[in-house]
Amino acid sequence: MALSPGETSEGLSPPFLELLRAEPLGQLTVLDVGTGTGRLALALGPLCRAVVGVDREARAIDDARKRAAAAGLANVRFVVGDVEVEDYAPFKPEMVVAHLCMSDAIAERAARVLGPGQVFAFVAFHTDQWKETGRPSRFSYGEVRAKRLLKRCGFTIEHLEVEREVATFESVEQALAAAVALREQWKADGRWVRYVKFLEEGGRTLTRARLVVKARKK
Ligand SMILES: C[S@@+](CC[C@H](N)C(=O)[O-])C[C@H]1O[C@@H](n2cnc3c(N)ncnc32)[C@H](O)[C@@H]1O
Repeated sequence: MALSPGETSEGLSPPFLELLRAEPLGQLTVLDVGTGTGRLALALGPLCRAVVGVDREARAIDDARKRAAAAGLANVRFVVGDVEVEDYAPFKPEMVVAHLCMSDAIAERAARVLGPGQVFAFVAFHTDQWKETGRPSRFSYGEVRAKRLLKRCGFTIEHLEVEREVATFESVEQALAAAVALREQWKADGRWVRYVKFLEEGGRTLTRARLVVKARKK
């Protein structure tokens, strides 16, 4: 799918990267949970003392390791693991980041491992993401849910914003073409039928919405 305006070439949100860069990264070991093929970990590598990326998909971790080697990043390592089950303490993180991999279990584990003043920052799908398909992701967060969770975990929120882009189309064909890369996934999870119905009933939009948050342990 085409990059949304404002994204870096790796598909990362510039405001999110700015929030991270405001921290003394050169002194920190950062844990990237749900790292996938490591795009955030690799972007942070040159700026941080060390980065550990964890993902449960061994194939993604293999790719991430290859990309780190190709980039010559000796301070970035990747580990296969379940970030909703494992304790983060063995990674000794001084900051925890999560990019499109967010859950209550992750926030709870970040809260357990971080000391006072240390940062947990994440980008999560917002509940309005693809709202035209009538089905919010079970991994999505609205502002109220995110605030409640972070408060319960002992974080102070320093930044919380919704990045939202609503694409508007002139025709059904144009709207379908914009989602073509998602068609197979949406056919499998039932979203495609609902999106087509939305378009047949005159809808001509597709919403992308993400919650960008930086929180600090009290
Ligand atoms: C949408 S991808 C985002 C990947 C990466 N953070 C990025 O932005 O490119 C979500 C990732 O989270 C991983 N993931 C989801 N649940 C997980 C869990 N419980 N433990 C480890 N990884 C998990 C998936 O395997 C996937 O790689």
